[in-house]
Amino acid sequence: MGKPISIPILLLFVILFTSSLSLVLSGRFVPTDSESVSTSKQQSPLTATPTPTPWPEQFHSILFMNYSGSLQIIDLWYDWPKGRNFNIIQNQLGKLLYDLEWNNGTSFFYTLDSSRECRTAQLEVGILRPNWLEGANYLGQRYVDGFLCNVWEKVDFLSYYEDVATKRPVHWVFYTGRVAHVMTFEVDAVLEDSKWQAPVYCFDKSGEDNHPDFHSVAAAHSNLITAEGLLRGSM
Ligand SMILES: *[C@@H]1O[C@H](CO)[C@@H](O)[C@H](O)[C@H]1NC(C)=O
Ligand SMILES: *[C@@H]1O[C@H](CO)[C@@H](O)[C@H](O)[C@H]1NC(C)=O
Repeated sequence: MGKPISIPILLLFVILFTSSLSLVLSGRFVPTDSESVSTSKQQSPLTATPTPTPWPEQFHSILFMNYSGSLQIIDLWYDWPKGRNFNIIQNQLGKLLYDLEWNNGTSFFYTLDSSRECRTAQLEVGILRPNWLEGANYLGQRYVDGFLCNVWEKVDFLSYYEDVATKRPVHWVFYTGRVAHVMTFEVDAVLEDSKWQAPVYCFDKSGEDNHPDFHSVAAAHSNLITAEGLLRGSM
């Protein structure tokens, strides 16, 4: 097992996955007949502030990430009932990295190629809750990536864009400037259990610090996550 990274990797997931699906029904005024119209003439239709749709308890999403021109494809598997979250990260013409997080705070960051690299971390917080966007500030509607979106802001953390028509997440921007474009969003998709197994060398002390290059990659990854996840503790 590598040196623990004292940085919350789980925060990344919190940040990465923001989908809002909830319909704002509470404020909708729907007269059912003429009588209800007349008896409720004192009421004006309430224009309720839209709220972000909670994440589905399980979903799969492909994210296109851009951090100052550094590009990644992330396969995201969010699985709240089983207390786990997986980011499979393909860097452009670079490493394929696996970032596996458990709700008990343990996370594993590894490769599956011949380099057999792994870094583990023990965080004080678990994965993002489905309702982690609750309390975000509504900013109005904007077009992004060609979709008309409701936009919310988690102050100092990220801006979150949800498709007005389908309530699916479209886009989010971390305050670090890292941008996620949601390419697919498969509600209820679940990754098979056997894929959620960190490799043996993650549990092998002898491999510790044999991969200084990887450790710098892991550290940079952790720093990014930490920067993006400063508010994690308050969610
Ligand atoms: C990535 O973001 C940079 C700005 O940080 C932008 O100039 C560039 O066009 C973006 N690339 C892609 C492929 O979206
Ligand atoms: C957390 O759960 C994972 C998966 O079951 C396990 O590998 C890890 O050892 C656990 N961590 C702690 C601190 O119990």
